[in-house]
Amino acid sequence: MSTPGASQGPVLRPATLAHVFLRTNKFPEMVAWYKAVLGAEARLESDRISFLCFDAEHHRVAICALPDTGDKIKTGAGLEHMAFGFASLDDLALAYQQRKARGITPSWCVNHGITMPIYYSDADGNMVETQADSFDSNEEATAYMLSEEFKENPVGTEVDPEELVRRLQAGEDRAEIRKRDGPCAGAPKG
Ligand SMILES: [Fe+2]
Repeated sequence: MSTPGASQGPVLRPATLAHVFLRTNKFPEMVAWYKAVLGAEARLESDRISFLCFDAEHHRVAICALPDTGDKIKTGAGLEHMAFGFASLDDLALAYQQRKARGITPSWCVNHGITMPIYYSDADGNMVETQADSFDSNEEATAYMLSEEFKENPVGTEVDPEELVRRLQAGEDRAEIRKRDGPCAGAPKG
């Protein structure tokens, strides 16, 4: 039986982007890496599958040792990176410092203008972005996305994460730190 009106108008949108599911041939390394990088914990875990959570959702990242999984081909089609958001620039920088203290260092740090991201490469070579929004509202962020500056360079400018930490610790105005400055960041480094 068909639902009346189901063929008319747009399809109902999902409420959220619920989780990512990763297949791997390096299961222990991948699970340890995501637990460390996201401060995540396993809601349910066996020797071949782990459901990791770090917020109110029951799981946000699932990792599975599926049979016949080959190594990642970085130039293959598909997911380029996944991004995890922090509530503020200060939180983003604190998590960066905490990871660094555990020997986990970023592969790329750039100011997109709309966000300030710090990228990492996981045990399989997947790119993982950690970011903080650079505007206080979606309206301001959208307006920036439509600006000439963003159209001309949607990637952004290179950032030294240590300099970012220094500026934050010095108490510099966050709005100034968020502004794009410096050379164009070019292609992602993963
Ligand atoms: Fe991104």
